[in-house]
Formats: sequence, C-alpha cells, structure tokens
Amino acid sequence: MKGFLYLVIWALAFAFSCSSAPANATPDPAEGEALYRKYCALCHGADGRKGFNGAPDLTLSTLKREERIRLIGDGKGQMAPYKELLTPAQIEQIADFTLTLR
Ligand code: HEC
Repeated sequence: MKGFLYLVIWALAFAFSCSSAPANATPDPAEGEALYRKYCALCHGADGRKGFNGAPDLTLSTLKREERIRLIGDGKGQMAPYKELLTPAQIEQIADFTLTLR
C-alpha cells in the first residue's frame, strides 16, 4: 500500500513539473492575434491601420521581426513598453502576428 502512495505522489509531482513548463514554448499564431487584439488594437486597430494617437500603420511597417520584438518590449514615444506585462514568448507571438498584417 505504501508503494502505491509513493506512486501517486510521484505522478502528481510529474504532472506539476509538466504543467509548469513554459506555456508558450511553441509559436501559436492564434494566440498572438488574441494578444494583439487585447493590447495593441486600441491604437493600431485590428487590421493594423487605425493610427490612433499617432500610431503608425502596421501594414506599412518595414521593421524586422527582431526590431518589432525590441520595440514592443521597450516601447517608443506614445507606445508603452510591454515587457513588464507580457512574457518574452508572448511578445514574440505578437510580433509574429504583426508581420502577418502586411
Ligand atoms: C497607446 C497607443 C498604442 C498602443 C496600445 C500600442 N502602440 Fe504600437 N505604436 C504607437 C505609437 C504612437 C507608435 C509610434 C512610436 C514612435 O515612433 O514614436 C507605435 C509604434 C509601433 C510599431 C513600430 C512601427 C514602425 O514601423 O515604426 C510597432 C511594430 C508597434 N507599435 C506594435 C505594437 C504592438 C504589437 C502593440 C501591442 C503590444 C502596440 N504597438 C500597442 C502606439 C501604440
């Protein structure tokens, strides 16, 4: 009976270690779109063209993926930095989504 108990504890510990693995390890475009709509569409619009508060039209942006990731994390001008709010993986997902707006 004791052996069974250890097995249960081991199984629980294993399940926990799995669920605490980085949730966004694999890129998921749908997730990036959902995050974009939540955090970015206010100024940039769902299609990237809104231009609220002087936000540039993202469909015309020539920034590379790395530059977008850095800009989203650090912010610029009227745009707030997002690195405190989002994980690096989430920022990458959003950057990837903005690249699909072109
Ligand atoms: C408060 C309004 C606002 C929000 C919210 C906002 N932005 Fe911006 N964004 C701006 C403004 C304004 C600029 C121009 C910054 C500058 O050049 O001074 C900008 C610039 C950018 C650029 C650079 C475009 C280029 O080619 O120069 C990208 C990419 C971008 N934003 C993506 C995002 C993403 C992704 C989010 C969501 C995480 C977001 N923005 C949220 C206002 C906003």
